[in-house]
Amino acid sequence: MALVAVGVLATACGGGGETTADGGAPAASGGGDSTITMGFAQVGAESGWRTANTKSVQESAKAAGIDLKFSDAQQKQENQIKAIRSYIQQKVDVIAFSPVVESGWDTVLQEAKAANIPVILTDRAVDSADKTLYKTFLGSDFVEEGKKAGQWLVEQYASETGDVNIVELQGTTGSAPANDRKSGFAEVIGADPKFKVIASQSGDFTRAKGKEVMDAFLKAHPDIDVLYAHNDDMGLGAIEAIEGAGKVPGKDIKIITVDAVKDGMQALADGKINYIVECSPLLGPQLMDLAKKVLAGETVPDRVVTEETTFTQEQAKQALPTRQY
Ligand code: AHR
Repeated sequence: MALVAVGVLATACGGGGETTADGGAPAASGGGDSTITMGFAQVGAESGWRTANTKSVQESAKAAGIDLKFSDAQQKQENQIKAIRSYIQQKVDVIAFSPVVESGWDTVLQEAKAANIPVILTDRAVDSADKTLYKTFLGSDFVEEGKKAGQWLVEQYASETGDVNIVELQGTTGSAPANDRKSGFAEVIGADPKFKVIASQSGDFTRAKGKEVMDAFLKAHPDIDVLYAHNDDMGLGAIEAIEGAGKVPGKDIKIITVDAVKDGMQALADGKINYIVECSPLLGPQLMDLAKKVLAGETVPDRVVTEETTFTQEQAKQALPTRQY
């Protein structure tokens, strides 16, 4: 199973195309003797979550006997579109991808449909009105994650009568998790006017950007009570900025993040983060299972939602020793 860059996809992958359908028959080789070939267009390697997700997909493909063609789009939609077109050219059996952003996919998805190659969305959604462009969407409920973050905050500040000043580090602009985690959180805290989001900006889901944007927030706002970061990595970058500004993360500024990767959980156990909403990256086994079912002509649900929990500081201490990622 080769890890190939987008630019070399067209020449790097040769197998899997010999049994392509002629006319009316389904294009996929399905669950027979022939090996299933999956083209997977990953978002990038922007976070600990993404690294764990890539590992899960690669290991699960191997375990399921699926030949995986993997590409890393480096957080650029045009790279993902190129990779998907390359998979169509190579006549893979099934295409799976985690869309960098929600919009702008209709054309390439129509090309896959015309080539009779089923598409499975994993992790992130697209906003296409035509739901026949993909078979199913496997991933978290990001709105629910935002709501869980908001609910914790509402409970923590239940007896507070003054304003609670919040800064928000958003994920990649236009991505489903950034849009949904923002709206879910806003819906819950919006019920009480004391919660004020005084600044909200994208940190692109990376540690470096999280630090950079938090530095700017701290300079512009001396009165921050709470940081809500759409992922652990941005939260961890922000912790560096907060400490650099002479403040104590977790105490002077309460911090809520999303993901629950090991580094985030360690910071939670150390008292630097106050609460983490889990987003599981371990989507590989379910993805391979869905791909096999789709190719065997079985009906699959339109939406498969990942089961997730939340972690307090105490719960993080207990979970850390056996945390897989
Ligand atoms: O789409 C899932 C999000 O993407 C994760 O929460 C974040 O860490 C990643 O970059």
